[in-house]
Amino acid sequence: METRYAIILAAGKGTRMKSKLYKVLHPVAGKPMVEHIINRVVETKPSEVITIVGHGAEMVKEQLGDRSQYALQAEQLGTGHAVLQAEPFLKGKKGTTLVISGDTPLLTTETLNNLFEYHQGKKASATILTAHAEDPTGYGRILRDHVGIVKKIVEQKDATIEEARVQEINTGTYCFDNEALFDALTRVGTNNVQGEYYLTDIIEILKNEGKTVAAYQTDSFEESLGVNDRVALANANKSMRARINTMHMMNGVSFIDPANTYIDEGVQIGSDTIIEAGVHIKGKTVIGEDCFIGANSQIVDSVIEDKVKIYSSSIEESVVHSNADIGPFAHLRPKADIGVGAHIGNFVEVKNATVGENTKVGHLTYVGDATLGKEINVGCGVVFVNYDGKKKHRTNVGDHSFIGSAANLVAPLEIANNTSIAAGSTITKDIPEYALAIARAKQENKENYAKRMPFLN
Ligand code: UD1
Ligand code: MG
Repeated sequence: METRYAIILAAGKGTRMKSKLYKVLHPVAGKPMVEHIINRVVETKPSEVITIVGHGAEMVKEQLGDRSQYALQAEQLGTGHAVLQAEPFLKGKKGTTLVISGDTPLLTTETLNNLFEYHQGKKASATILTAHAEDPTGYGRILRDHVGIVKKIVEQKDATIEEARVQEINTGTYCFDNEALFDALTRVGTNNVQGEYYLTDIIEILKNEGKTVAAYQTDSFEESLGVNDRVALANANKSMRARINTMHMMNGVSFIDPANTYIDEGVQIGSDTIIEAGVHIKGKTVIGEDCFIGANSQIVDSVIEDKVKIYSSSIEESVVHSNADIGPFAHLRPKADIGVGAHIGNFVEVKNATVGENTKVGHLTYVGDATLGKEINVGCGVVFVNYDGKKKHRTNVGDHSFIGSAANLVAPLEIANNTSIAAGSTITKDIPEYALAIARAKQENKENYAKRMPFLN
């Protein structure tokens, strides 16, 4: 294989996004667009990757890290000028250079490899990746001569009415003979409506110098979508989502309504898991086999083991072990660890807490900063009182204990195995094994007193 290089264009501000966030950092399926690009680029095995940074340079560099080298384009004078910034890295080197925009997140590795191979096969100086667009608005148009040979690319803003009708568009991705690229770039001018150095002009320059220019047309316009505004961003997310969900379905995951299920790239899901509509699964989440993820659940950066059932709940940075069930309407906040077969019921919030095997926390309860052993029953409306206004404190509850409804457990507390806490107690002291703790006012019945109450008159 010839030596491959890659240049990623990522210096633009993305004015049309009307955003404080730099364009290439806008997420598609949970990852910044430029992250998708670098992943695909790296899969084509280039010996060097140079990313052109400008607006948001530090953030882009932080995102890509040492997977790329960086060239700063201090002023954004156009895509041709952007590529020229890679000259100190690549000038004089032999090989093929892929130039790709940071705003085309749907391109696949397969398409990029096909482009490289087509370019190689044609022995071209430049090969443009093109696509057929039903609506080519906004893209550069590919102009061919009467026998179909590429002549040049004309930008939308510079196109005549007739040229604008052309439906073959420039995807903004190209392969170049590396030496021919940097040689021709020095001859790109700014004679166009935007007064910019267009990379696209290089095609006509090479052509006029008698070099071979080719075009490789993908059959997927969807893949070549360039994201310049929020409408395109939403479309990119939709396409990426469909691609991700299809992959999961092919792997044996059932979706009730895939068009309304939102799964980030990189999420793993085991076979025979069923996912209902309106579910969002984000970040580094891993879900096991035979799970049920009910409607409108939200799961972020969490591990869900096999045979777990989640009903309309919100889960962040947590672990749910096998056979547990969560919800409806439960909230697992960071560092919740729910044991095998445990039950977390409706309106239960768990934070920085371990809930042991087969322990049941059924209703209206807050478990914060606590360790619960196994086979504990937590009644309705129990509060683990963990915060004194300044500091958080922990409560440990031993195995086989019973916590009555509406108990308040004021941390720090050590509650041994096999204890029982009477309903309505406010516990402030540790409880030894086999003790029953009652901490509530004694009931007194005042005979016939109710007759004096206004509501009985
Ligand atoms: C570009 C192409 C157009 C093509 C389209 C495909 C040019 C002149 N036009 O238009 O033919 O159909 O992509 O999506 O190349 N950038 C820099 N520095 C700059 C300018 C841009 O790094 O000075 C980067 C941007 O961050 C972006 C990429 O280059 O990632 C493309 O720039 P953009 O402004 O999106 O170009 P388009 O108008 O989409
Ligand atoms: Mg663009």
